[in-house]
Amino acid sequence: MRIFSGIQPTGAIHIGNYAGAIQNWVRMQGEGECLYSIVDYHALTIPYETAEMPRRVQEAALDLLACGIDPEKSRLFVQSQVPEHTELTWVLSCCASIGELNRMTQFKEKSERVDFINAGLFTYPILMAADILLYKADTVPVGEDQLQHLEVTRVFARRFNSQFGETFPEPQPRMTTAPRIMALNDPTRKMSKSLEGSAIMLSDSDEVILRHVKRAVTDVGAKTDEMSPGVKNLFTLLKVFSPAETVAHFQEQYEAGNLRYKELKETLGQDMVDTLAPIRQRREELAARPSQICEILHESARQVRQLARETMAEVRQKLGLTACS
Ligand code: TYM
Repeated sequence: MRIFSGIQPTGAIHIGNYAGAIQNWVRMQGEGECLYSIVDYHALTIPYETAEMPRRVQEAALDLLACGIDPEKSRLFVQSQVPEHTELTWVLSCCASIGELNRMTQFKEKSERVDFINAGLFTYPILMAADILLYKADTVPVGEDQLQHLEVTRVFARRFNSQFGETFPEPQPRMTTAPRIMALNDPTRKMSKSLEGSAIMLSDSDEVILRHVKRAVTDVGAKTDEMSPGVKNLFTLLKVFSPAETVAHFQEQYEAGNLRYKELKETLGQDMVDTLAPIRQRREELAARPSQICEILHESARQVRQLARETMAEVRQKLGLTACS
């Protein structure tokens, strides 16, 4: 089995990324050949400071290695160091319809936030499909927000296969038990780097983590019989960071109608600190050796590029781009 996934280098990694995807990246290292990419080409779709980009890539690599991505077991590489990603993007763009791209909810959401809607924002899912298909990956560990992109990836693969002959497997998603973590300050919206005050970063200090959890929105408006989105989100996080007995304890309290938010938040905050503190410490140790990080990224890119070249040679052959070759 080949596993592929990617993350944008848009600042520090947050607990939504961790709970929804990175935990599975780490767990799946025993299951197959793992290729994980820091997708800097994708990050070009949103305005950014060019001088900041190298640091952002380095930060993402640090976070991922600190979470347990093991360079002995996985290839961790930077997307732009394997130019075949963009080559396959062009090919797949001829297998994608404008209607399909227009239906992407992420495109609709992101394009509402910018004045200049660049075409990269629109064709973003094609680059993502190319990332996955370039390595003929079978399984893609992602959060729920990426399912629609994966669905069109399968459509593009199927279309290519039926037009030019069987080439790409149809990749399937793998989700965790927490595929959609909501913003702590607004549990009706997804936790994200772009939503101010919504996220806890892996690099946040104990104090910051505890403060964020303490301030998390629980109930708004009138009480109903259903669990409110804020409390539901805290329970989802509890399942990620706390032992099963703790989850059961609070679940019982909730069902008996005597759940105390303060106690729930204190326990969750402390369990989060206990999980994230060792990650932060590993991160600091790794940060002291930046050249080692670069070595890992370069060596991985060199290795995956062999696979990428093989796929592109096959694709060119299938497309009939073979004159005088
Ligand atoms: P990105 O960088 O936004 O997020 C990385 C991963 O984190 C997951 N995630 C979440 N999971 C749960 N709750 C949340 N609030 C939350 N926020 C983010 C995402 O689902 C994702 O799995 N387009 C992708 C990157 C990408 C990619 C790929 C992924 C590019 N090429 C190929 C898989 C395969 C993205 O922007 O993820």
